[in-house]
Amino acid sequence: MLLRPTLHRGLPNANGNAPSQQSRAGVLNCELGMSKPFDIELERLTGQASYSEAFPGVDAGQRGTFFLETFGCQMNDHDSEKVAGLLLSRGYKQAETPEAASLILYNTCSIREKAAQKVFSQLGEYRERQTEGKVIGVLGCMAQQEGEDLFKRAPWVSLVCGSASYSKLPEMLAQLESGNQRVTGLDTDTDETFETEVTRRDNPWRAYLTIIEGCDKACSYCVVPFTRGPERSRASDSILREVRQLAELGYSEVQLLGQTVNSYADPTARKTRFSELLLAVADVEGIRRVRFTTSHPSDFTPDIVEAIGRELKICDHVHLPVQSGSTRVLRAMQRTYSREEYLEKIAMIRSAKRPIAITTDIIVGFPGERESEFEETLSLLDEVQYDSMFSFKYSPRPNTPSLSMSDSISEEEKGRRLAILQDKQREIQAAKNAKLVGERFEVLVSGKSRRENQWTGYTTSHRMINFASQESELLGTYVQVRVTGATPNGLVGEHVT
Ligand code: 5AD
Ligand code: SF4
Repeated sequence: MLLRPTLHRGLPNANGNAPSQQSRAGVLNCELGMSKPFDIELERLTGQASYSEAFPGVDAGQRGTFFLETFGCQMNDHDSEKVAGLLLSRGYKQAETPEAASLILYNTCSIREKAAQKVFSQLGEYRERQTEGKVIGVLGCMAQQEGEDLFKRAPWVSLVCGSASYSKLPEMLAQLESGNQRVTGLDTDTDETFETEVTRRDNPWRAYLTIIEGCDKACSYCVVPFTRGPERSRASDSILREVRQLAELGYSEVQLLGQTVNSYADPTARKTRFSELLLAVADVEGIRRVRFTTSHPSDFTPDIVEAIGRELKICDHVHLPVQSGSTRVLRAMQRTYSREEYLEKIAMIRSAKRPIAITTDIIVGFPGERESEFEETLSLLDEVQYDSMFSFKYSPRPNTPSLSMSDSISEEEKGRRLAILQDKQREIQAAKNAKLVGERFEVLVSGKSRRENQWTGYTTSHRMINFASQESELLGTYVQVRVTGATPNGLVGEHVT
C-alpha cells in the first residue's frame, strides 16, 4: 500500500507534488522547496491544438469552475487528476483558489485518525464558502467511510462520492444543478475501473497510471478494502494504449499504481501477468522509466525480479511493506506471510541480476504487540537493511477487525517505539548513503531550487538527490550526477557530463 499523506491545493505546484510530510527516517519522497509551479497546458495533455478541438462542442467554463484539493496517497493524487480531466471535458474550468470556484471538491484520506481529523478541520474552513453559494463536495476515502453521516457532521457539504463512483460524478453534479440538495455516490460493488478520456496531469514528465483499484487483502488494521472496495484490474490493452499516448505526449516515466499493484490480474483473454505488463510498458517507444507501487509481499513472484534484472527501464526499486517483524503480530494483522516468508522474498530480490533498492512501511504498537515482538521488528531492519522506511503508530480505524482487539498500547509507548525504530533506520540509511559517495547515477531532473544552480531529481532507485549544475535549463531531462555527499535523508552531488 502506498499512503503518504500529502496535501495538494488547487493546481499542482512545483514537482507536481506538494512537499510530502513523511516519517522522520524516510529518504524517499522528500522534496526541496521549489519555486516555479507547473501548469501543464491542456493542449499538451490532449495533443490537440486548442480546448475546442480537445472537447468539441463544449465551452470552457460553461458549467462553472472547480477547485480541487487532494489529501492522501499517490492513488488519491491520480484520482484527482482523472476527476479534473473528467470535469474539464464536461465544461468545467479549473480554478486556482477556492474563492474563484463555484464548486469546491476535497479528495480525502482516512488511513489514520490524524488524516481523518485533518479532513474535518479543513471542511470547517470551507463552511463559510457554502454561504457564498458554492457547492462543497467530499470525495475519496472519508466520503466512503462516513457516507451520509458526513451530511450530519458537515451539513454544508452537498456531495459525497467514494472512489468507486467517480465515473458518475457528472451525473451527480447535474442532479445538484437541477435542484437536489444532496447527492451521494457510495457503491463499491462495482467491477468498473475509473478511466477517463482526458487526465489533467500534475507533472510534466512522470505520469501515474492506476492498473488495479481496490484491495482484496484483508489486513486487520486497514480501511482500504472498505473505502476502495474489491480489487478490479484494468484491461492490459487499455493500459498499453494509455502508455503509448503518454509517450507521444512526451512523458518518459510512468508509475503504475495499485494498493497491491503486483496482484494485477488482466481481465482480458490475454491474461498478461504483472511482470509481462512491466516489460510491455518498458517496450513502448519513448518510455525510459517504469515504476510501480505498492507491492504486496505474498504476490511478489520470481518473474517480477527476473523482469527487473533483465530490463533496465524497469526501475530498480521495490516498495515492499512488511508492517511488523514478528510472525505472531503479522498473523494478528492478517498479513498472509510470516517473518521467514518475507525474508525469503527479500533474499529473492537481493539475488537479482542487479541491485534493487528496497523500502518498506512499518506499524508500531499494534494491539498486543509485546516488547519482544517490537524488538523483532528492530532486528528485521538490521537484517534487511532497507533503503528507506515509512513508519506509523497504529491507529484504530472504523470498520476494521482490529478495532475491537483488546490490549491496546498507550500512545506514549507507541511514540517511544516509533522513535527507537526511526533512530535505527536513520543509522542504517546514514551508513548506506555514505557508501554511495563517489558513485554516478542517472537522474531525472524534477525540480529547481530557489538557490542558484541547485537542482533536484530522482535516481532510478528513487533516491532523491540535490545537485549543482551550471546549466540554465535541466527540468525534465536526464543527466548524470556524481554523489559528493550523503546524509541519512538524502544525497548531494554534482552534474557530470
Ligand atoms: N494505523 C497505522 N498505520 C496504518 N497503515 C495502514 N493502516 C494503518 C493504521 N490503521 C499504514 C501501513 C500501510 C501504510 C500506507 O499505512 O503501514 O502500508
Ligand atoms: Fe494494503 Fe492490506 Fe490495506 Fe490492502 S488491506 S491496502 S494490502 S494494508
